Amino acid sequence: MDNLDTYSIMVHGGAGDFGNLKSDKDRVRCLESIRSVLEHGRCILQSGGSALETVEQCTSLLEDDPVFNAGAGSVLNEAGKVEMDAAIMCGATLKAGAVAGITNIANPVQLARVVLAESDHVLLISAGAQRFADRWNFELMPDSYFLTPQRLAEWEQARPGQHGGSIGVDAETSASGGEEKYGTVGVVARDRLGSLAAATSTGGIANKSFGRVGDSPILGAGVYADNETCAVSCSGVGEDFMRTVLAKTLSDIIQFKALDGLAAAREGIDYLLRKVKGRGGFILIDNQGRCASAFTTKKMIHGWIELGGETVCQL
Ligand code: GLY
Repeated sequence: MDNLDTYSIMVHGGAGDFGNLKSDKDRVRCLESIRSVLEHGRCILQSGGSALETVEQCTSLLEDDPVFNAGAGSVLNEAGKVEMDAAIMCGATLKAGAVAGITNIANPVQLARVVLAESDHVLLISAGAQRFADRWNFELMPDSYFLTPQRLAEWEQARPGQHGGSIGVDAETSASGGEEKYGTVGVVARDRLGSLAAATSTGGIANKSFGRVGDSPILGAGVYADNETCAVSCSGVGEDFMRTVLAKTLSDIIQFKALDGLAAAREGIDYLLRKVKGRGGFILIDNQGRCASAFTTKKMIHGWIELGGETVCQL
């Protein structure tokens, strides 16, 4: 294994057109948040922290920031409620934990980490996940903690009879109130021992059906990590990523075609478009610590530190 004793990290805050970020101030605010999460990750990794610890902590920070669609600031479902999904995966062991359809938990990724560490299972959903959270003394936050005025306005706009519509809407032609609903957050990291980890967390898609689960908590669809190949976190219309099992497809491209992360990212995004006209994108760190990303939407908020180098952020 090459490039040991250095580290890499990538962070995303969602793929979309971000018509909701109306001013430069909003854009700067998003980029500053991504940068500060990356710097937090740098501190953990530089001081010898594991990739798994890093992706959990950094995803928690993104969940705490109401500008992103995860944790506080999650979008609302058709009933005007927040239902969240999250997953975390360790590339050294292929152990993983995931939760889906959960409510009132500030940091779903932390609950997913406890599922990974303390349960015999990989994925817990709704009432069962809530009972598990209760058993592990997770605090229940009030609904008001998750709701932002912007999300309420988006929900109003996305309701039947308003423009915006369902997830079947064409990403390229949707009006404002359209693509920004695809946001999700995610972090991938490679630590100084060469281990990879990935985490993804989301409120899902605005105005989604009650009980709908997206790709984020589905291993191989919205998240995947394997030390032999790569760590991946996806963002976008979850149905497109589930139908193409995109995160595992990217891993398989590296494994079976002996490609690096950059070449795999190119093939992976072509595959997503060709097979399902997929709407969204992903971040990827390969087993050598090389960073790659690709998206089919107009933008993806993301940033990276490759092999301990400078911090780069893009929107
Ligand atoms: N990619 C997030 C979701 O579809 O739920």
